[in-house]
Amino acid sequence: MLPDLDPKRISRRRFLKAMGFGSLAAVGTIAYGEQTSMDIETVHRELALPNWNADGIRFAFVTDLHADDPEAVARSIQAIRIAQKARPEAILFGGDYLTSAAPRHLQNLRDVMATLGESSIPCYGVMGNHDYWIRYFDLVKAAAISGGMRLLRNETVEVGGVRLIGMDDALVKKHRPDLAPTGRNTLALLHEPDFVSEMPPGICLQLSGHSHGGQVCLPGGISVHTPRGAWKYIAGFYEKARNPLYVSRGVGTTGPNWRLFCRPEVTILTLKGS
Ligand SMILES: [Fe+2]
Repeated sequence: MLPDLDPKRISRRRFLKAMGFGSLAAVGTIAYGEQTSMDIETVHRELALPNWNADGIRFAFVTDLHADDPEAVARSIQAIRIAQKARPEAILFGGDYLTSAAPRHLQNLRDVMATLGESSIPCYGVMGNHDYWIRYFDLVKAAAISGGMRLLRNETVEVGGVRLIGMDDALVKKHRPDLAPTGRNTLALLHEPDFVSEMPPGICLQLSGHSHGGQVCLPGGISVHTPRGAWKYIAGFYEKARNPLYVSRGVGTTGPNWRLFCRPEVTILTLKGS
């Protein structure tokens, strides 16, 4: 049989083949991104901090749940159970509990926070920018604390010999750095990492989220875009920031349940003196 040399037919065949490969690649990438968004990494970090003598104390840090839809609910509950399993001194929440306050989303958040009742570990948290941007702040707040988490709005509590301050959100200008304690065994929760520059020096460690680690990254976790408030500090430990700063990639997503080269994170921190 003679080969088909009709250029029109060849180009159509090549075109269809290319379309087929392109569609397969697109479907594969979408599936991979969805799978990555559900694949929580438990990040264990031991940090050596200045002016710290509560050696060996452990905190779990869970942030940016964005627990709106059923996938996010399942992921958020899994994240909380990972934190509980580590038996930390306290579980700390970094804000952005929801992205929208539709009634079913508020119920979803209540379902997630009910997981806190599965253990007696104390829980503290701050609000994030999305919790304010939603506009129904009081409803979001009520759902966020429904499971027993204590919300800190520019308040300091003592946890296992550590002075923990929960800063209210900085992007909406509710934060009060002037109220932050400094000195020995001080720990700050503040949703947006870049606002470490406005905090008084002398806080032993700040924990932040907000960046989602970039959420959609290049191979190697190189972020392409992060929101205002997370332009400078995106993921990991920044020992030389104004105060030592740890930024989590967080649990949830904004927009679709999709992450690329940037797994969701629950952080288990063991803190000691440097
Ligand atoms: Fe967020």
